[in-house]
Amino acid sequence: MEINRCRIIDLPKITDARGNLTFAEGGRHVPFDLRRVYYLYDVPGGAERGGHAHRALHQLIIAVSGSFDVLLDDGHEKRTFHLNRPYAGLYVCPMIWRELNNFSSGSVCLVLASNVYDEADYFRDYTEFLEAKGIQS
Ligand code: TYD
Repeated sequence: MEINRCRIIDLPKITDARGNLTFAEGGRHVPFDLRRVYYLYDVPGGAERGGHAHRALHQLIIAVSGSFDVLLDDGHEKRTFHLNRPYAGLYVCPMIWRELNNFSSGSVCLVLASNVYDEADYFRDYTEFLEAKGIQS
């Protein structure tokens, strides 16, 4: 199952009385080469993000502030991850449908991605996503 490839990756945490520090290096902590960073912020209560899958994109999703839930679905199995630690990244492999919700007030969702933005890489229709995987809806 592809969903078994999705997992929490613990990032280094340098604890310091002046404030903690976490970093992520491509090829070492991140299991793909980084080509883009983006972040979601000012998410209003009750809002949902995601609602799509990617053909080839690899991502690492981090709750750098606050918390939210990430529902992953490979067409066969669904799994929900509650992200609430700035030193834990959720690795999401290609061909996984994802939905993000339950954002806490002031939360920030940082995403490290393996490629630049390309709308052609998206499945925005769930039925189309299942069809591409050879699953009957
Ligand atoms: P989308 O990926 O649908 O947001 P999310 O999955 O996080 O809810 O993107 C929302 C809009 O932002 C869409 O019009 C495409 C644009 N966008 C970019 O231009 N560059 C990017 O890197 C991303 C992630 C989105």
